[in-house]
Amino acid sequence: MASEVLSGSLVEVLRTPAPEVIVLPTTKEVDIQAFKILAQTVIDKPRAVLTLATGGTPLGLYALMAEAHKSHVLDFSGVTTKNLDEYWPLPKDHPQSYSRFMKDNLFNKINIPACQRHIPDSSAEDPLKETARYQSTLQSIGSSDLTILGIGPEMTCHIAFNERGSSLGSRVRLVDVSEETIKANARFFGGDQTEVPRRAITQGVADILESKRIILLAKGKSKALGIKRTLEGEISEDAPASFLRLHPKVTFILDEEAGSLLTRD
Ligand code: F6R
Repeated sequence: MASEVLSGSLVEVLRTPAPEVIVLPTTKEVDIQAFKILAQTVIDKPRAVLTLATGGTPLGLYALMAEAHKSHVLDFSGVTTKNLDEYWPLPKDHPQSYSRFMKDNLFNKINIPACQRHIPDSSAEDPLKETARYQSTLQSIGSSDLTILGIGPEMTCHIAFNERGSSLGSRVRLVDVSEETIKANARFFGGDQTEVPRRAITQGVADILESKRIILLAKGKSKALGIKRTLEGEISEDAPASFLRLHPKVTFILDEEAGSLLTRD
């Protein structure tokens, strides 16, 4: 399957420029670099559509966005957002729901109207209906101007909840959260793995690749192996983030540790 995907996209690989990779000395510089790209996107297009991630990695970027709003440097009132993913099932206001995460870390600090913010409903009764609803929401909004991604730890190479085995053509769907991700995310649930929801609703790889521009941020040693696999290994379902190399405008913004295993010229 992986080789079929690869041969199917080989022509595109040859046509697609190599991804831009920026390695910066500190995590703060990663945040600033990401902020510059995001700010330029919103300045150029006040009604920009952004796809957003949760997790520890984008927190510095979100803090800079909040600061820019507070100091009247940026106006987010025309922006529309589509989040990448959400646990299921979980009460919407659970401290670890992604909906709550986005409010606490970004939405309550900037001025995007609630009706322009989109995220799957973690408390939906029927998750399959919810995936269909979210897919149709994404379609009606259209492609994103900028997508912010993190990457799963170690060799998971997941983007959103597209774990190993996710196909290039995958779309919004209900997925099982992998054991490795449950382990990694338990830190947000008081270290208790049994508290981490076993399923999630996620945008698929194909949904992510529809974005006009993508930036993937990675910080710390735990991302180094996955970044090397993603950028230097085979493009395959074994490392969903490797599919980003098929995108014509993707930038990997890494701190020194995350980029430490890359082969440098
Ligand atoms: C969450 C998401 C995930 C995270 C990834 C890294 O919306 O898309 O794929 O980006 O699990 O998480 P952190 O940033 O906590 O290392």
